[in-house]
Amino acid sequence: MSESARKPVLFSGIQPSGTIHLGNYIGAMSNFLLLEKDFDCLFSIVDLHALTVRQDPAALRRRTLELAALYIASGLNPDNSIIYCQSHVPQHAELAWILNCFTYMGELGRMTQFKDKAASHKDNINAGLFTYPVLMAADILLYQTDVVPVGADQKQHLEITRDIAERFNAIHPGVFRVPEPYIPKETAKVMSLMDPERKMSKSDPEDSYIALTDSEDEVRRKFRRAVTDSEADIRFDPENKPGVSNLLSILSTLSKESMDSLVSRLSGQGYGKLKEEAAQAAIETLRPIQARYNELMKDKEYMANTLRHNAERAQALAQRTLRKVYKKLGLYQP
Ligand code: TYM
Repeated sequence: MSESARKPVLFSGIQPSGTIHLGNYIGAMSNFLLLEKDFDCLFSIVDLHALTVRQDPAALRRRTLELAALYIASGLNPDNSIIYCQSHVPQHAELAWILNCFTYMGELGRMTQFKDKAASHKDNINAGLFTYPVLMAADILLYQTDVVPVGADQKQHLEITRDIAERFNAIHPGVFRVPEPYIPKETAKVMSLMDPERKMSKSDPEDSYIALTDSEDEVRRKFRRAVTDSEADIRFDPENKPGVSNLLSILSTLSKESMDSLVSRLSGQGYGKLKEEAAQAAIETLRPIQARYNELMKDKEYMANTLRHNAERAQALAQRTLRKVYKKLGLYQP
């Protein structure tokens, strides 16, 4: 990422807090692949964010490495894009503290992810859960990011990031670039296979999502069991037919066949056929990813070296912004 050949900057992150699933792939990773060549990219494993919910230390360590391998296995190039762990770059936590002082309690209290997580973890509504979006703003603003590809569930966090950046810039002009979200409508929200009114989520039961590491049999079984409805016609109608519409969306994005063509081709064929085609499209998408993933997971040394080297690259970029922030704020720098 030399300054002279600077492309616009892309940043995104995924939490290593559970199994990475088809929702993460369609909503986020597939867009990373699409955009990688046109941007200077950073893809972070946001392990500090994962701590807002209690984690088993051994599982967190394992999932961190698995997610790093999945990023690379999905086709991202770690010699070019910076693929790294958030906790390896201390500037994230440092900037988060500063931004905490530019963020209001009221705006954090309006975050729907906070409200949802507070409701589902009543015994552990910690301050980190509340200030989660501030750390996310720090992730993004540290690298003077232009664009942030995410699923629709992160839209509100992107809006608060922009608000924080603009508020800071209004007092200390020219410090942060104000980022744009990248949330294409077709890939914005993959729904649960068991409860298609809810988004596909790492924290739900296993049968409700397709893990990127699921075997062919598991993928077929889960699609076969996917909740649909009691009618029989295949049409795209998320309001009245959320299950069928979700399967159609998944199939359309993975196979790149347009929704119109899919619906006319499959109409009158029954849900069994739709489920079988969706499963097949998922299996074909996952096959090369899993092959590469299995190789990478055997090469622990390559993984460790890649993550170490990329953390250094990220630190160098992050330090530039942090130095500027400290200076503007009047923190004495001897
Ligand atoms: P996380 O780890 O929950 O999800 C990672 C990415 O996957 C997207 N996603 C989905 N997209 C479509 N359908 C779904 N069912 C679905 N489930 C998840 C998410 O929108 C996300 O893009 N707060 C973030 C992580 C983060 C981050 C950042 C992202 C931390 N710092 C800075 C971007 C920039 C999160 O919890 O994602």
